[in-house]
Amino acid sequence: MESYRNKGIKDIITEFPKVEEILDEYGIGCGPCTVGICLLKDILDIHKMAPEKEQELMARIETVIYPERVEEPAAPTKTVQPDSVPHVFSAPMQVLVNEHVLIKRWLALIPSVVENIDLTTDVGVQIIEDGIDLIRSYADRLHHAKEEDILFTYFDDSEKIFQVIYEDHRTARNHVKEMLTDLERKDVSSLSKHLTAYGILLAEHIKKEDEILFPWLDRKLADSQVAELAEKFDLEDKQIGVDPKKYQSFLDWLENRFG
Ligand SMILES: [Fe+2]
Ligand SMILES: [Fe+2]
Repeated sequence: MESYRNKGIKDIITEFPKVEEILDEYGIGCGPCTVGICLLKDILDIHKMAPEKEQELMARIETVIYPERVEEPAAPTKTVQPDSVPHVFSAPMQVLVNEHVLIKRWLALIPSVVENIDLTTDVGVQIIEDGIDLIRSYADRLHHAKEEDILFTYFDDSEKIFQVIYEDHRTARNHVKEMLTDLERKDVSSLSKHLTAYGILLAEHIKKEDEILFPWLDRKLADSQVAELAEKFDLEDKQIGVDPKKYQSFLDWLENRFG
C-alpha cells in the first residue's frame, strides 16, 4: 500500500475507478477536480480527517487495490458524513485569498473585454492597457511576489505542487509578454487568444491555491511563522506601493460598462 501513497490520485482513479466513488463519500472530490497534482498521501494531509475516519478510508481504498488481502469488504452500510467545516485561513493567508477576489473580478470580465476589443479608439486601447497593468502590477508584482518570495520560502518548494504553481506563474508572464507585443502591433486576434488563455489559466490557478495549496500550507505554519508572514506581507505591500484602489475603480467602471 505504501507505494500507492506516493502515487498520483488521478492515476489511482484511472486504474481503480471505484476509488473515486469512495473518496466522494468522504466529501473528497478528486474525480471532477481538474487540478490533478495530488498524491494519495497529499489527499490525507490536505483533507484533515479524524484519525479513525482516515484509517477507515485507507482500509476501503486498500480493499479496492488489493481485493485478495481482505476477505470482508470494509464498506460501511450507510454514506459517511464528510467533514464539512471549511478551513479558516490565518490572517496573512486571508490577505492572499482576498487578493484573489480582486483578480477574479478581472478574470470574469475578460470574455466581455475580448468580445468588445477595439484598438481603433483611445478608450478601447486604454481598457487593454489598464487590464494588462492590473495583471502585471497587482496580480504579478504584488500578489505572485508575495507567494514566491515570501510564503513559499517557508516550505520545501521542490515538491511537485509548487512546481505546478511556478509553471502557472511563468506561463501567465509569457501571455502578458505576448499581449504587450500584440497591443503594439494592433493584432486583435492574437491579443484575444492570449487574454483568453490567461483568464482560463489564472482561474484554474486560483482554484488550486484557494482550495488545495493554501489550506494545506496554512495548517503546516506555526503560530510564530504566521505572525512573521503577516509582518513581511505588510512590509512588502509598503515597499511595492501598488494601490489596490486604482484597480478596484477600474473594475467598478468596467463592470458597469459591460453590465
Ligand atoms: Fe499563484
Ligand atoms: Fe495566488
